[in-house]
Amino acid sequence: MNSFEFNKIAGAVLATALVVFGLNQAKSMIYHAEKPEKQGYAIEVAETGGGTGGGETTPTESLGTLLAKADPVKGQAQAKACLACHVFEKGGPNKTGPDLWDLVDRPIAAHEGFAYSDSMKEHASDKWTFENLNKFITNPKGFAPKTKMTFGGIKRDQARADLLAYLRTLSDSPKPFPAP
Ligand code: HEC
Repeated sequence: MNSFEFNKIAGAVLATALVVFGLNQAKSMIYHAEKPEKQGYAIEVAETGGGTGGGETTPTESLGTLLAKADPVKGQAQAKACLACHVFEKGGPNKTGPDLWDLVDRPIAAHEGFAYSDSMKEHASDKWTFENLNKFITNPKGFAPKTKMTFGGIKRDQARADLLAYLRTLSDSPKPFPAP
């Protein structure tokens, strides 16, 4: 090997070393410049209902809980909306809608002399439990899509529970509320 060749090889080795060194430098610069993905701490906040104790209800309250604190006197005021079409008296007549005396636990679409819609008759094997009444009065068309009852429903949970507590009293033997 003459000195010229030696210089060429030495030069190549040196150049390679410089490139490798340079790459490492560059790499460490890039890595140091990288920022953590999240800055600060992620704080998880649990969602709470409006538990103000001021009569506000959360949708998670069971019907039994709502009924346990329901007020039938307030429910009677709610029931005025029903009087446009229903009578609440024992042996009372059917009007636009059937008489609603002793409604709780009575078979669905079974009041004598009333011509129910097919949509309501589809539920005829079931009873007007508190749960079914609660669903129907929340949204009549949600319960029986083609019902003849043209009533929008009562959306506030506690107002509905008050109404159910009142309807329950319209009986010779009021039925027990479901457990909270
Ligand atoms: C605009 C008239 C109208 C109003 C207001 C109305 N209803 Fe009705 N209701 C009807 C009609 C009509 C039917 C029969 C529905 C059918 O056959 O699809 C009915 C049926 C019912 C039934 C089924 C009874 C059974 O024998 O199966 C219940 C329960 C009921 N209504 C409760 C109520 C309550 C509670 C209110 C008040 C919050 C109310 N309705 C307001 C017209 C009305």
